[in-house]
Amino acid sequence: MSQNTAPSQEARPQDNNLPEKEEFLRDVFAGLQETPKSLPCKYFYDAKGSQLFDQITTLEAYYPTRTELGILQQHLPQIADIIGPNAIIVEPGSGSSLKTHLLLKALYQPTAYIPVDISEEHLHIAAQSLRQQFPHIAISPIAADYTKPFSLPPFPNTTQRIIAYYPGSTLGNFPPTQAIHFLSRLREVVGASGGLLLGVDRKKDKAVLEHAYNDPEGVTAAFNLNLLVRINQELGADFKLEQFAHDAFYNEQEGRIEMHLRSKQEQIVHVQDHRFAFAKDETICTEYSYKYSPEEVQQLGQQAGFQQKCLWSDPQDYFSLYFFSAVTA
Ligand code: AVJ
Repeated sequence: MSQNTAPSQEARPQDNNLPEKEEFLRDVFAGLQETPKSLPCKYFYDAKGSQLFDQITTLEAYYPTRTELGILQQHLPQIADIIGPNAIIVEPGSGSSLKTHLLLKALYQPTAYIPVDISEEHLHIAAQSLRQQFPHIAISPIAADYTKPFSLPPFPNTTQRIIAYYPGSTLGNFPPTQAIHFLSRLREVVGASGGLLLGVDRKKDKAVLEHAYNDPEGVTAAFNLNLLVRINQELGADFKLEQFAHDAFYNEQEGRIEMHLRSKQEQIVHVQDHRFAFAKDETICTEYSYKYSPEEVQQLGQQAGFQQKCLWSDPQDYFSLYFFSAVTA
């Protein structure tokens, strides 16, 4: 498993060990200097942002979480059979979800569970609770930005296969080309006998999609604006929250939800010694959330060295869960 420490084509090695805050500052400067302006969506998830996201997943308007959970619950026995006994589960992203608990409970004697997350604190809390509930599974978190190369810790030699679990349509944050790169990275992590259990949101009616990112409670708006709160707090910026608005819409051409923060007026914002000018209605793009048809997901997997074995959906075909096996070239 040591080959997965090699830098990807996209990673710039000189950036790898920047302290977190310097990297955040550099990304904010870079994103606000671009035209159009943008900020990486990974910075949504500070403590407050993670809490707001958890709240989003419980909203009536936000169908993906409950829909995926329903699909998972309905097909757990078949999923456990396909994965087989003594598997290691590697999960890029937080491991505190109900979905993870259900999966670990349903599998036949999984040997280890490896959550990979940028937030050490988040990981620690999730790991503690998992250890209590699953005393027979080695819980071995890795604190890392999983969009960069990472390597697995040593694992029990009874392990049959390594399975990557990537639920929640988080894959949708990557544009298609980057999604393929990321899945190829997972393919290296799981190896020749590995597999991938992947949950991805589907293309559907524009009104349903847009409602999910414009909830009447305003939680998604608060989640989006919290990025500016965080930049103010951590990087000493002076964004005036009341002068920015949440914008989310479905770009049908590109097959993605776009979230933006729109400047309600012409204004100057300072981030430390830098000044950034905003025209009225100029936006900062904060997130893409791509929606994929099953054919598109199959293509993405195939181009990353995986072969689709199973596909499960809800009755409305809003969301799908996929199982892929590694293919050897
Ligand atoms: C965690 C990326 C899957 O795209 O639906 C939810 C994030 N943003 N509401 C998504 C999100 C606004 C979510 N993902």
